[in-house]
Amino acid sequence: ASPNLFQRASETALYLRSTLPSALHHPKAAIVCGSGLGGLVDAIHPEPRIETAYANIPHFPESTVQGHAGKIVFGLMGPAKTPVVLIVGRIHFYEGHTMDLVTFATRVCKVMGVETIIVTNAAGGLNQDYSVGDIVCLNDHLNMAGLVGIHPLRGPNNEDFGVRFPPLSDAYDLDLRRRAHQAWKKLGLDKQKRRLHEGVYAFVAGPTYETRAECRMLHSLGADVVGMSTVPEIIVARHSGLRVLALSLVTNSAVLEAVPRGDDESIQSMTKDELEKHLSKGKANHEEVLEAGQEAAKDMQALVKQILSDLYV
Ligand code: 6GU
Repeated sequence: ASPNLFQRASETALYLRSTLPSALHHPKAAIVCGSGLGGLVDAIHPEPRIETAYANIPHFPESTVQGHAGKIVFGLMGPAKTPVVLIVGRIHFYEGHTMDLVTFATRVCKVMGVETIIVTNAAGGLNQDYSVGDIVCLNDHLNMAGLVGIHPLRGPNNEDFGVRFPPLSDAYDLDLRRRAHQAWKKLGLDKQKRRLHEGVYAFVAGPTYETRAECRMLHSLGADVVGMSTVPEIIVARHSGLRVLALSLVTNSAVLEAVPRGDDESIQSMTKDELEKHLSKGKANHEEVLEAGQEAAKDMQALVKQILSDLYV
């Protein structure tokens, strides 16, 4: 991380605060909204609600993916009117941004006084027990990109945020996970077909979806879901002592079977049309990822709102 990050985050925090009524100056919780999960904005009260596009925020980049609006929203949530900040349209590493930029909003949240960060994302299911539309409360991760050096804390340590060698063995707060499961039941969502799991997230840099061999590798290493976000933010959040809850929406099932073989008898005997149809199955695409998000977004929204309402009574 570059040495002047604390100063830059402070400048951004100062600017944002200048746009806010005093009731919103000190957000207690931050919510990072994943692909198609920007509807979480509807979980906050309509008044006061201040939205600012990334383009108008000092030191912020513009995000480039479709379905990612790119704005920061301040408002009050739940019966206790808890001040919160929503990051809508996160910045991904695969867009070409540095890890400093990918995690900058997290640092701004810290500087503004946030204590708890809830990070949501859309992810591919590797665990064969998961269905599309299920939600996974993360309890651990495999930082595939980080293990080979693509890491948000690489470089001189920024002592203003935290220590040189932060532990991650307790990164996913057990009390918040416990609360997530309690809230799920309290909302009666355990009586529906959508399930809340707990599992391990593998972070890959993207932007390609995984090959089948890569899916098998990640699955055999213990990952339950795979995605291209969240882990950098969580690392920076933990470095600075934020409490973290992470929720993945399973938007598609990764294919774990080996690719069809060219020398397979049944492949050999197929017509070109049959072959094409055979191959169209199980390919991840951005449209299906956004679609599953729309359907499950309401439950995810209700869950996050309930967790925060119980946390800040
Ligand atoms: Cl299958 N892979 C990755 N890396 N990210 C995803 C995904 C899959 N599905 C949604 N996001």
